[in-house]
Amino acid sequence: MTSTVNIHIDKTTKSRVADYDVNNVPFGKCFSDHMFIAEYADGKWQTSKICPYGDMPLSYAMSALHYGQAIFEGMKAYKNENGEVSLFRPLENLKRLNKSAIRMCMPEVPEEIFMGGLIELLKLDAAWVPTSETGSLYIRPFLIATEEAIGVKSSENYKFIIITCPAGKYYSEPIKVLVETNYFRAVIGGVGNVKAAGNYGRSLYPTKLAQQKGYQQVIWTDSATHQYVEESGTMNLMFVLGDTLITPALSDTILAGITRDSVLELARSWGMKVEERKVSLKEIYEAYEKGELKEAFGCGTAATIAQIVGIGYEGKDLVLPPVSERKFSTKVDETLRMIRKGKSEDKFNWMMKI
Ligand SMILES: Cc1ncc(COP(=O)(O)O)c(C=O)c1O
Repeated sequence: MTSTVNIHIDKTTKSRVADYDVNNVPFGKCFSDHMFIAEYADGKWQTSKICPYGDMPLSYAMSALHYGQAIFEGMKAYKNENGEVSLFRPLENLKRLNKSAIRMCMPEVPEEIFMGGLIELLKLDAAWVPTSETGSLYIRPFLIATEEAIGVKSSENYKFIIITCPAGKYYSEPIKVLVETNYFRAVIGGVGNVKAAGNYGRSLYPTKLAQQKGYQQVIWTDSATHQYVEESGTMNLMFVLGDTLITPALSDTILAGITRDSVLELARSWGMKVEERKVSLKEIYEAYEKGELKEAFGCGTAATIAQIVGIGYEGKDLVLPPVSERKFSTKVDETLRMIRKGKSEDKFNWMMKI
């Protein structure tokens, strides 16, 4: 689609891109030259602009800080060998952003603002998109309540902002995860199925406890019984049991990951058996004991596929097959990378060229 929104563009007078090796920067620490900002007030979207990346002058009373009306998305742009930049399924992120907005009582962001801002921003900051095999430009669109007012109510004012940063591999090694059976991430009727900022704040303490025990992440379980697995950290969770790909079915407590959807679509297109349903710890443990637990991995935009090689559960460590034996997830990882880098056919029409 083309932008129909009027964006005021204030270009930086001095690009910072030469100060970095964009193919080799830590995740989420260095931000590209520009950002996009759209303002919402008086019941409608007002001005949109692109300006040099910088700080936000905002009130200490702004409602996002006090009452948590803050939502975000995570997506990526990729550069092919000809230097062309493409986005991976961006309209899915827009749909999910607006689902989050409705749930958090915030205004939806129109497609022309979201896509118009994103495309103009990427055109200006194309030099920031890594060219390395596993590199991409991570894109963080977010919507925050900015009304200067104390009092629990939905804000009258909002800002929709897009910032970007070059990204390499999220996890450099396969991970060990701890099954969390004390704290939980999401509840039925809650906000676990949207990207509300508070979901992430609440996850930090249990994650810190797991990290102190030598795990990189937790596996979240259902809040009522802690018997069913839900997600791992900020990734959807998948297992290959025997010859079947199994993943928890979407629900109120699970974020509908775009990577998850893409992995399932690829698996089905390869004729693999796929089951989306409740997955109990008992089932995983029994499959492990019988040698049927072939693969376990998390999937999400940041990591794509994070191989899980160890699962801590009830004081034991399940030691899973080495990554070299994981045919399915390594094929998925490679296939997604090739599609994103424009090196293999985009059968599903996932890529959108800028
Ligand atoms: C809680 C949670 N689950 C799953 C995912 C994976 O979603 P996606 O594949 O769209 O990045 C994310 C990341 O957005 C997440 O925050």
